[in-house]
Order: sequence, then C-alpha cells, then structure tokens
Amino acid sequence: MKRCILITGGAGFIGSHVVRLFVNKYPQYQIINLDKLTYAGNLANLKDIEDRPNYSFVKADIADFDTVYALMKERGVDGVIHLAAESHVDRSIKDPFTFARTNVIGTLSLLQAARLCWEASPAEEGAPRRLFYHISTDEVYGSLQMDSPLFKETNKYDPHSPYSASKASSDHFVRSFHDTYGLPTIVTNCSNNYGPYQFPEKLIPLFINNIRNRKPLPVYGRGLNVRDWLYVEDHARAIDVIFHKGEVGETYNIGGFNEWRNIDLINVLIETVDRLLGRPEGADKDLITFVTDRAGHDLRYAIDSTKLKEQLGWEPSLQFPEGIEKTVKWYLDNQAWLDNVTSGDYQAYYDSMYKGR
Ligand code: NAD
Ligand code: TYD
Repeated sequence: MKRCILITGGAGFIGSHVVRLFVNKYPQYQIINLDKLTYAGNLANLKDIEDRPNYSFVKADIADFDTVYALMKERGVDGVIHLAAESHVDRSIKDPFTFARTNVIGTLSLLQAARLCWEASPAEEGAPRRLFYHISTDEVYGSLQMDSPLFKETNKYDPHSPYSASKASSDHFVRSFHDTYGLPTIVTNCSNNYGPYQFPEKLIPLFINNIRNRKPLPVYGRGLNVRDWLYVEDHARAIDVIFHKGEVGETYNIGGFNEWRNIDLINVLIETVDRLLGRPEGADKDLITFVTDRAGHDLRYAIDSTKLKEQLGWEPSLQFPEGIEKTVKWYLDNQAWLDNVTSGDYQAYYDSMYKGR
C-alpha cells in the first residue's frame, strides 16, 4: 500500500535507525526525513540509504509551523513518526528554553499541522490509516526507588529535569489533540537506548571514546544510579510494530528488562574496550573519576513493557552482552565518525561541562 510518512529527527541517533528500517523494509512508502540538523543530527548517519528513490530529506525546524504545514499538505503526508527533540538532560539543565521551544512548541506545531491537513482532506476509502506517532521517554515517570515496581503505562507523570518536563508536556499535548480534536495518536515511552550513531555526550558512546583515548570517565555521584538499556534496533522494530498495529489513543511502554547500575555498566565498557584493543585486563579502570552529581539526578528508571509484549507480540531480540559487544566494536571501528561529530563546537562544550564539575 502506498503511503507518505514524515519522520522527524531522522538524522539523530534513534531516528536514523527508524528511517533506515522503514526505507529498507517498505520500498512502497515515501519516507520524508525532516531534521533541523542541530549538533545531534548528522546526515552521515544515513549515508547508506540517502540515494534511495523512496527517501527524501528536508532541513527544517519542527517549530516552524508554516514550513511543516506546507510540506505535509504538498506531499500528502498520512503518517507522522515524531522523534525530533533536544534529548540530553545535562544540556536541559544549562539551557531549558531550547528544550521548551523544540520539544513543546515543536510538537505542538506538528500536531496542529497534521490536524489541519487531515481535517481539510478526509482520507479516501481504503486508504491506510492516518497516525501521529509520538516517541517519548520513560523519564516522564520520574525516579524509582531501588525496590519500587517498574514503570507501567498507568504511572502518574512526575518529571524532574527540564528535559523530562518538556517531554511530559509534549506527551500531554499529543493526548489533548486526540481527546479534543480526534487526531489519531499513539504515544510510546521508551527506556535508555544504546547502539551505533549515538552522539558521544551520552554515557555509553562518551565513555567508549574516552576509554579508547585514555581520557577521564566522569562518573556522576557514586555511579549508583540505575538505567534500563535497550538496543536501538530493537526500539526501531518496536516503533515499526506499533506504527502498523498499535491501537489509536493508546500508550505503550518499551523497554528491555535490562537494568544496570552505572558503575557496573562502566566496568563492562572498560573490560570490553580493553579486550578488543588488546590492552591488559582492567588497564583502564584508573580512568574512573567520580565527579559532582548531576542536579536532580533521577535514581532509577525501569520499564515494564508487558503490555506491548502481550498485545502486539514485541520483545527485545538482542541480549545485552551481545548488544554491548556490537556497540563497542562499532565505535572502535568508526573513529572517523566520532572525530567528525566531536570536532569543533562540541569539544568546547564538553570541556566546559566537564571543567564545571
Ligand atoms: P538525538 O538527540 O540523537 O537526535 C535528535 C534529532 O532531532 C537530531 O537529528 C536533531 O538534529 C533533531 N532536532 C532537534 N531539534 C530539532 C528541531 N527543532 N527541528 C527539527 N529537528 C530537530 O535524540 P535521540 O536519542 O535519537 O532521541 C530521539 C527521540 O527519542 C527523542 O524524542 C527522545 O526524547 C526519545 N527517546 C530517546 C531515548 C534515548 O535513550 N536516546 C530514550 C527514549 C526516548
Ligand atoms: P545519559 O546517557 O545522559 O542518559 P539519561 O540521563 O537520559 O539516563 O546518562 C545515563 C546515566 O549515566 C545517568 O545516570 C547519568 C550518568 N552519566 C554519568 O555518570 N556521567 C556522564 O558523563 C554522563 C553523560 C552520564
């Protein structure tokens, strides 16, 4: 069946995996990747599919309503998968306005554009269902104690960082458009992703790169915070299943049932990098440097994705040891990509963050 899907944030980490999956798996769909190409967006992430006839790229800001509306109308977009966002908690602490602008106003602008386009031209008989699919995070649920049950879809929102507050706000806007205007929406809340093409300001790629270059590993607090890690291609597969089979108006949690304390994960990264580079076992443990904790640092995130498994049959395909091995190898084999994205402005930003702790 023909359709035209607008994927926002497709030049970023998760978005590039979603674009690749859809372009490869659905040659009959037109896939438009709309991305502002901020520091986190990189078209090199999509080199392998950029010439495909069913793929096009548009450089634009999701908060620019006129551009988004004109594009959706002109191209006859019938599905939106919305990933574009400012996504790094530490940046949100320094610059919350940018997070409100992109994550809240940007989402509102897309919602309004989809609503006006779809209201103005009702879908033809037999056409694929229209859907506005919003990708969100488990961080909106707040912070768990070590012995608390995992986050379910019914948990109340309790965001603590400007990042999670902006994502929570955008989730509320999405649901309000469903309830008020009947816009067909789905929201998913996913746990921490890892894998290739993640910008190296996030824990896993940052630390792999630093271990390789024998630079200090800035562990916030005592490294006792817990995150639930999911391989990024498993997230992309979940998005595919939910986009096609998820129930309109619903929320699904996506997670790997894979909780790690930061310090334990960091030791796995050190062990893996050292082994793959042929360094003596544990040679780089001395790089661990405990630094001032992140302000408002959530203790633990952990997702219960039972609903998704029971209702749509999705579960993670990759176990963590295999996923982390693949990931470390990818970053070690792609130093040119790392050097490219960490050059210039980013390095100055990183140095200022690190020196500030
Ligand atoms: P990312 O920071 O790697 O990529 C974000 C992309 O959005 C970049 O390509 C950037 O250029 C683009 N972008 C930013 N502002 C824009 C704007 N105003 N207009 C158009 N494009 C803009 O993020 P990611 O880690 O790939 O996350 C993607 C989505 O998934 C986000 O909505 C995030 O909240 C959510 N999410 C991420 C994780 C995770 O672990 N990374 C977990 C759960 C949910
Ligand atoms: P991060 O990758 O920023 O994801 P999030 O904050 O969205 O979960 O961080 C993962 C965990 O690692 C989080 O508990 C913060 C911690 N962390 C460090 O200890 N040092 C670092 O330099 C970074 C970036 C993160």
